[in-house]
Amino acid sequence: MTSSKRPDRSEHSRQDLPDSFHGDDPVSRRDFLKGGLASAAALAAGTHSPETVSAQLSGRQPADVNSVGLPPGRVRLAFNENPLGASPAAIEAVLRHRDWMNRYDYTTTLQQAIIRHHDLDIPRPSGFDFKATGDRHGLMLGVGTTELLQILALQALMKNGEIVEALPSYGQVTRVGDELRDAGYEVQARRSPVLPDGNHDLEDLRNQIGDRTGLVIICNPHNPTGALLPHERILDFIDRVPPHVLVAIDEVYVHFVRDPAYRDFIQVAKERENVIVLRTFSKVYGLGGMRVGYAVAHRDVIYRLAPFSMGLLGRNVLSVHAAAAAMGDEDHVRRSRQAVWDGNDFLTAALERLGARVVPSHACFLWADFGRETQRIVRTLWSRKVMVRAGAGQWASPNHIRISTGSREENEAFVWALERTLG
Ligand SMILES: Cc1ncc(COP(=O)(O)O)c(C=O)c1O
Repeated sequence: MTSSKRPDRSEHSRQDLPDSFHGDDPVSRRDFLKGGLASAAALAAGTHSPETVSAQLSGRQPADVNSVGLPPGRVRLAFNENPLGASPAAIEAVLRHRDWMNRYDYTTTLQQAIIRHHDLDIPRPSGFDFKATGDRHGLMLGVGTTELLQILALQALMKNGEIVEALPSYGQVTRVGDELRDAGYEVQARRSPVLPDGNHDLEDLRNQIGDRTGLVIICNPHNPTGALLPHERILDFIDRVPPHVLVAIDEVYVHFVRDPAYRDFIQVAKERENVIVLRTFSKVYGLGGMRVGYAVAHRDVIYRLAPFSMGLLGRNVLSVHAAAAAMGDEDHVRRSRQAVWDGNDFLTAALERLGARVVPSHACFLWADFGRETQRIVRTLWSRKVMVRAGAGQWASPNHIRISTGSREENEAFVWALERTLG
């Protein structure tokens, strides 16, 4: 297959999405100046809060919705973005650093913020390096978690030849494996179907591991199902995995877990040599467009991954300051989490009323089974200016739709459009 004919397998593929939803540059210079002055004034007055933003939103039909960061009238519930917008502290940090755009970033601001946040034992991060390591712990920044998944896949496929990922899933490591195989490399991305409850089938994952397996990805809470596996079950899986296999725990949605007793895997990654945890600033912190993610692992794991990274020059001077500020903005994290929980309750009730079965979600989206093919439903929703994702195609789930949790108004507009679509 030639590269121009290769299917785009990424979650953010545009091939199955209508162009009109994206809008290359929805912000005119006049709008920008107006908006910029308004947000500067709001910031100065301390009123640039998510409440102010959502108070400006109104209406229950798509035409009336005015989403943060989108042209009016479009309801985009397709990419698991934060409907409240970025952390106000991040916006303020970007404005404060706007004169730094001509400079490459050699600060350690973001590394320091992450090291403090997770209490990593990394005493002297270097501004000249993209990774930070101590005697035991290691930290690596990425251009979103997507770059880190790409690096993990490349490293494991080059060294060992095989990786294992659930189906359906975010799919970045599988995409790398499939594309390399199509290009003639002797590598393989194995898929492990999720269970009917939306969780990874740990028994099957274990069975798929062979001598050539270098990497297994577990996404918890899982995308696109929103299901959550208990900590102990994953730990038990890690205990039984052969030592040549690295287990990556993708925790990009972990802030939305609804079980207060749930423990994440940062501590495990700090203690073990075969576990790496991935986090992002794209979800709860509201910085999807800024492209910052990070990985925490044993120092030696980080060293192994280093040759595949873009390194220091993948760092964006505005993004690192935005991310560092967002990490300290607990108020925005709390509000974002609550908005998602409220939205999930509202959407779950509406979807069940309309006959769909919904997996209890620990993430900022819902996975709904309509018991019949959903491609037509999704296309009709698009025509009503509501963008959600059909389960057909890369997720191999033709009866499903994934709906990202929106603001109250976006959620209401989605339900309005769905009611009319289902008749
Ligand atoms: C499970 C999962 N992992 C990783 C990512 C990548 O996020 P980002 O590259 O924005 O950090 C996403 C994005 O939606 C995701 O759903």
